[in-house]
Amino acid sequence: MTTMKAVRIHAYGGPEVLHYEDTPIPQLQPDDLLIRVRAAAVNPVDWKIREGFLQGVLNHCLPLTLGWDVSGEVAAVGPEVIRFQIGDAVYTRPNIERDGGYADYIAVKASEAALKPVKLDHDQAAAVPLAALTAWQALVDAAQLRSGQTVLIHAAAGGVGSFAVQLAKARGAKVIATASAVNVGLVMELGADQFVDYTRSRFEEVAKEVDVVFDTIGGETQTRSWSVLKPGGMLVSVVSPPPEATAAAYGVRSAFVFVQPSSSQLDAITQLIDEGRIKPILHTIMPLYEARQAQVISQGGHVRGKIVLHVAS
Ligand SMILES: NC(=O)c1ccc[n+]([C@@H]2O[C@H](COP(=O)([O-])OP(=O)(O)OC[C@H]3O[C@@H](n4cnc5c(N)ncnc54)[C@H](OP(=O)(O)O)[C@@H]3O)[C@@H](O)[C@H]2O)c1
Repeated sequence: MTTMKAVRIHAYGGPEVLHYEDTPIPQLQPDDLLIRVRAAAVNPVDWKIREGFLQGVLNHCLPLTLGWDVSGEVAAVGPEVIRFQIGDAVYTRPNIERDGGYADYIAVKASEAALKPVKLDHDQAAAVPLAALTAWQALVDAAQLRSGQTVLIHAAAGGVGSFAVQLAKARGAKVIATASAVNVGLVMELGADQFVDYTRSRFEEVAKEVDVVFDTIGGETQTRSWSVLKPGGMLVSVVSPPPEATAAAYGVRSAFVFVQPSSSQLDAITQLIDEGRIKPILHTIMPLYEARQAQVISQGGHVRGKIVLHVAS
């Protein structure tokens, strides 16, 4: 067998440029795994790349298979791969500059993969890597969030935010979370200490003197977030680089995080999941061939947790 099904783009544009079609099975490099994809999650970066917003930032060639959040089984290994064997159940947020995982197969570096949590099936596991790694790299690496600190997490019901709330609680922090009223139950169940319905209240009225703001919205939300930080606090954004001059004017620190693959951090996340301390939230599961509709829902901006494309049982 040399071909497979994949959802690819041949040009940048709206959802109509996504095509479910036949394409060659990826070739392996010596340190690659070939993964038989069972499920692939949908992330906002997928439609942002589809629209062409990241041209010039990422080195892509068209046609391109989208989707960089995968759970599946190892189908083949390159000669330099030591850690994994054929048949291992793995999950990964691979290099975003290669073809993605809206496909029957994906080739990824072994250093980008980890064994899947045993507690999760493949649909659930696919929902984890990109969002959980983003929350980890923002809160643990960049902000170094500690027990007893207070963090304001924007969009706490979204893919990244729902992991951020749980990770912050696992580190012993106090969490103030923003979302709309429909998500209050979810966000409090994930461990938030305080909830702000951003459609009715200004978060500045509730969050004061916080140690860390996690900005997953950008724009006006980022601009208004500076004032809630205590001196020396930190604003971490995953949407737009916070201006250094503004951070200096408020006497705080800032960082922009663009998530990177990491099998060691995925291992730590696997452990937290198998200990029952964090879990993915699934908005919906759709078949791979409905990737267009899945991206339309994602682009709407009100996904609760993650959308997952089921690829194969
Ligand atoms: N730099 C990186 O490496 C990186 C990595 C991952 C994600 N990102 C970016 O981070 C952003 C969030 O990603 P995601 O996957 O979490 O997105 P998502 O799952 O699509 O986020 C949807 C959530 O946003 C909430 N929301 C929308 N507007 C809001 C507002 N004004 N205030 C508070 N909550 C609001 C919605 O809650 P309601 O339905 O209750 O309104 C919904 O639950 C995206 O722009 C994404 O591209 C960047």
